[in-house]
Amino acid sequence: MKTSYTRIEVRPMAGALGADIQGVDLARPLDDATFAEIERAFHDRLVLFFHDQRLTPEQHLAFSRRLGPLSRSPYIKHMDAYPDIIAVLKEADERNISTFGNAWHSDFSFLEEPPLGSVLYAREVPDHGGDTLFANMYDAYDALSEGMQSMLGDLNAMHSGRPYGVGGVSADLKVSRSIGIERNQAEADREVAHPVVRVHPATGRKALFVNSIYTTRFEGMTEAESRPLLDFLYAHAIRPEFTCRLRWRTNDLAIWDNRCAMHYAVNDYDGSRRLMHRTTIKGERPISARGRNA
Ligand code: SIN
Repeated sequence: MKTSYTRIEVRPMAGALGADIQGVDLARPLDDATFAEIERAFHDRLVLFFHDQRLTPEQHLAFSRRLGPLSRSPYIKHMDAYPDIIAVLKEADERNISTFGNAWHSDFSFLEEPPLGSVLYAREVPDHGGDTLFANMYDAYDALSEGMQSMLGDLNAMHSGRPYGVGGVSADLKVSRSIGIERNQAEADREVAHPVVRVHPATGRKALFVNSIYTTRFEGMTEAESRPLLDFLYAHAIRPEFTCRLRWRTNDLAIWDNRCAMHYAVNDYDGSRRLMHRTTIKGERPISARGRNA
């Protein structure tokens, strides 16, 4: 059934996911009917993009809180003046470095309760480059064979915060100095089990839930045993048909659903400054079709 909207205009950005939302000023408090349409579009399109929003940090926070209680991300420095906001920054003179989010992932999936989603606001972006890619993990699951779906439905995968753990980042990989990240944190190496196929609590749909930054292996298997199937799933999940691409302009804002989408921050803008403000919405423990864990 085609969903209709009366308060907002929803313009899909690609076949799989993503929509430009028109007719909303996020600087003002949103009435319940408008917010309900935004939420419906969010569940339908997974990633929403609002252009040319003039927001103070307080307004960014107020809109984020409409989506749910906020959470603070471990190992990442938050802003002194706004402890619920992370400044995702790369300075113009930072070249040949690794940047925050520059691999396909679902945010902090190694937490027992990974975030529901994030709200990213562009304060300063390059003339070109610095896009963010997204992939629809419902589509990735739906496109698998019945045999693979059934096998994955019985599996849990282990996730860990190893980029922040002991020896997680190789010493010769230069990382941005402009986003404060704590590394060598022993407790970040702890593994948490989540279902490989999670059921979205709002839509009831099944989504693939493994990612190349934080998933280490399948529960009950070694990393070496798990690697071939994980590599297949990572490559499968980012088929171009399952993706969309956000091309940022200053004052654009995006929200995404970590429960059914992965994202990738493209690091192709050496020589330009990029500053984004991110809030994170608290999530719940992933559930499988069979209950909490598979
Ligand atoms: C992230 O939250 O992974 C960063 C996204 C971005 O900077 O585009």
